[in-house]
Amino acid sequence: MSVHKIKERIFEVGAAHYDRRLFDELIPLPDGTTYNAYLIIGSEKTALIDTVDPQKKDVLFENLESLGVERIDYVISQHAEQDHSGSIPHVLQKFPMAKVVTNKKCKMFLEDLLHVDEEKFIIVDEGDTLSLGDKTLKFLLTPWVHWPETMSTYLVEDKIMFTCDFFGSHYAGASVFVRDEAKVIEDAKRYYAEIMMPFRAQIKRNIEKIEQYDVDIIAPSHGSIWKKPEIIVNAYKDWISERVENVVIIPYVSMHGSTERIVYYLVDRLVERGIDVKPCNLTVTDTGKLAMALVDAATVILASPQVLAGAHPKAVYAAFLMNALRPKTKNIGIIGSYGWGGRMTEQLKGLLSNIKAHVFEPLLIKGHPRKEDYEKITELADRIKERHIELGLLK
Ligand code: FEO
Repeated sequence: MSVHKIKERIFEVGAAHYDRRLFDELIPLPDGTTYNAYLIIGSEKTALIDTVDPQKKDVLFENLESLGVERIDYVISQHAEQDHSGSIPHVLQKFPMAKVVTNKKCKMFLEDLLHVDEEKFIIVDEGDTLSLGDKTLKFLLTPWVHWPETMSTYLVEDKIMFTCDFFGSHYAGASVFVRDEAKVIEDAKRYYAEIMMPFRAQIKRNIEKIEQYDVDIIAPSHGSIWKKPEIIVNAYKDWISERVENVVIIPYVSMHGSTERIVYYLVDRLVERGIDVKPCNLTVTDTGKLAMALVDAATVILASPQVLAGAHPKAVYAAFLMNALRPKTKNIGIIGSYGWGGRMTEQLKGLLSNIKAHVFEPLLIKGHPRKEDYEKITELADRIKERHIELGLLK
C-alpha cells in the first residue's frame, strides 16, 4: 500500500502488480506493471480518475482509507479495459453516491463488460468540463490509444494531462515520477511496440490534440509519471514517424540446423556490408523484444524450415503477430529450408499482407546449404544493402 502525492490535493492511489508476467494472456511483463489511479480533491467535489485491476482492488481501498476519503463524487473512466475499469463496480458499491463520468462509447463498453447500471453514468464529449470547485477537469477524446473509446483528462489549474494507456509503460517498482529517463523510455518503447504500434495514424492525431494544451505533467495509468512531457511526446513522434534505422531483424526458427546456417551466413554478410542485424530465435526471444525491434528496423527477414507442407508454427505465429502490429518496416523477405514440397512462402506472404513493404524474392534452400546456396544468400545481402542505400540509410 502506498499513496503518492502528485501535487496539492492530487494523489496517485493505484496499485503495483510486481509479479504479473503476462497481460491480455499475450504480452510479456518482465518487470510487472502498475495500475495508476488518481484522486483529485476539489474544494467541492472529489474525483477518482481510473481504478485498478480487480485483483488489486484491496490496495486501492486501503490507499483511499489512508487518506481518509469518505466520499467520491465522480469516477472518471478513461478506458474500459478491465485493468483500469475492473474495480469500478466495487468503487460504486463502497461509494454509492459516485457517478461514472465517461464518453458514450466507453459507457457502452462498461455496460457490456461490467454491467454498470445506466443511471450511474454522466456522459461527456470532446472539450466538456467538469468542475470540482477550485479544480476543473476537461475531457479529450483520444481514440485508439488503446481501444476506440479511450479518452484523456486535463486538469486545468494544475496543467496535468491524464492519458491512461497513452504514454504508459509496464514497469512496477520505479519511482512514481520518472527518474531514469533512458530506462523509462525503453519500457515505454516496449509498451508502444506491443500495444500502440498498430495505431500510428490515430496516435499522430491524438498528439496534435494534446499539444494544444499547456501540459506540465503527463500522468499515464501504467508506469511512471512524466514531469518533462516533451521527452515521452518526442519519443512517440519518432516511433510513429516514417524514419527507419539501418537494421535487419531476422526472426527465425530452425529444427536441425539448416535454417540456422542460412540465417547465420546472412547475418555475417549483412554485418560485412555495414548493416546492423538482430537475429531473434523464436524459441527463446520474448515477443516483446521482437515487437520492440520492429518499431524502427528497415528490414525484416523471416526464416523458417518447412514443416508438414507449411512454415514452422513458431514462424506462423511471428508472421501473424507482425502483421497485427503493422510495423513501418520498408522491406520484408522470407528465407528457409525444406526437405520436400510445400507452400511455406505463399502461406507466410499471405500472413504478412498488412505490411506495405518491398518484398524480396523468397530464398528457400533444399537441406543444408551448398556452395551455390551460399552465393544466393550473399546476393540477398547485396539486395538488402541496395535497398538500404535507396532509403538513405547507407552510402
Ligand atoms: Fe491498460 Fe488497454 O489497458
